[in-house]
Amino acid sequence: MDLAIETSNLKRYFGEIHAVDGINLQIPKGSLFGVLGPNGAGKTTTIKMLSTILFPTNGNATVLGFNIKKEAREIKRRIGICPQENVVYPRLTARENIHLIAQMHGMARKDYKERTDELLGKMNLLERSYSLVKGLSGGMKRRVNILMAVIHEPELLFFDEPTAGLDPQSRRVVWDLIRDFQKKECTVILTTHNMEEADDLSDELVIIDHGKIITQGAPEELKGKLGEGDIIEFKVKEIEKRDEIIERAKTLDFVRWGKQVGKHRIVLNALDGLRRVSEIMDVIKVKMEDISVRKNTLEDVFIELTGRRLRD
Ligand SMILES: Nc1ncnc2c1ncn2[C@@H]1O[C@H](COP(=O)(O)OP(=O)(O)OP(=O)(O)O)[C@@H](O)[C@H]1O
Ligand SMILES: [Mg+2]
Repeated sequence: MDLAIETSNLKRYFGEIHAVDGINLQIPKGSLFGVLGPNGAGKTTTIKMLSTILFPTNGNATVLGFNIKKEAREIKRRIGICPQENVVYPRLTARENIHLIAQMHGMARKDYKERTDELLGKMNLLERSYSLVKGLSGGMKRRVNILMAVIHEPELLFFDEPTAGLDPQSRRVVWDLIRDFQKKECTVILTTHNMEEADDLSDELVIIDHGKIITQGAPEELKGKLGEGDIIEFKVKEIEKRDEIIERAKTLDFVRWGKQVGKHRIVLNALDGLRRVSEIMDVIKVKMEDISVRKNTLEDVFIELTGRRLRD
C-alpha cells in the first residue's frame, strides 16, 4: 500500500501535558482521513507535527515519503494547510491573499489567476474578492483561508476544523470542495470534533482522546461495532443510582450496554429500542425524562469507549 503518512510512536509533551502520547498511523495515499476527538485531544498538535510546524518530543513520521525531522522543506513544498485559527493578511484583498500563496509556491500567473476565480466562485466569494479581508465576516475569512490552503494543488492537505463557525450552507460548500480535492488523488487529513462531518467525509478515521488513538476504522465499521440497535438517551433525577439503573436495564437481553453521561443522563444501546422503551421503563423503575432515541452515531462510539461526549 502506498502511504501518504506513516507515524511511529509520535509524541509531543508540553511540560506535564501529554498533548500527543504515542500515535501510530498509516494513512493511504488518496484517502480522506478523519481525526475526531474532543477539545484538547491532541488533534492540532498532531497536525502541527505532521506539517513540520512543531518538532516532536519523541517518535517519528514520514509524510509523502519524507522525514518530518530531517526533510521539512520537502514536505512544506508539497502540502497545503488550513490551520485551526485563520491566518490571513487583513490588509490584502481576498484575491491577493490567495495569489500570494500561489506565488510563494512558484506558480505561474496564468495558472493561478483563472484557478483563483474558479475557486472564489465555488466558495461564493467572487463578489467580495476585491474587499480587504479585514472587512469580511468570520465565515468569509474562513473560506478565504481554505482557498489559500488549496490554490497550489498540493499533494496532501491538512484541514484543521475547517468548518468550525460556518453556517450550514457554507459548511456544505466546504465539504463539497474537500470531496473534490480528494477525488483528484490528493490525500486529505481532516480534524474535527463534529461527528457528522467525520462520518460524512472520512474513508477512514481515528478517534483520539488524551493524545492517544482509542479506535480506528471506517465510519460504518466503527458504528457497526456498537452492535445493531438504537441509542436511547434519557435523564434521571436519581443520579446517585445511575449504575444500579444501568444494571437493571442490562437484565433485558436486548440492552447491550449502558453508560452514564454528563451529570444526569444515561445512554443505552438497545436492539429495536424505539419500540421497547416501555419495557425498559418497567425494569428500571425510575422515571425517564427527556427521552430521545437515535441511530448509532460516531459520538456514541466515543461515549461507549470513554463515558463522555465529544462536546461536554
Ligand atoms: N503551545 C502549547 N503549550 C502548552 N500546552 C499546549 C500547547 N499547545 C497545545 N497544548 C495543550 O495540549 C493539549 C492538546 O491540544 P491540541 O490543541 O492539540 O488539542 P485539539 O484536539 O486540537 O483541541 P481543540 O478541539 O480544542 O482544537 C491541550 O491540553 C492543550 O492545552
Ligand atoms: Mg485543535
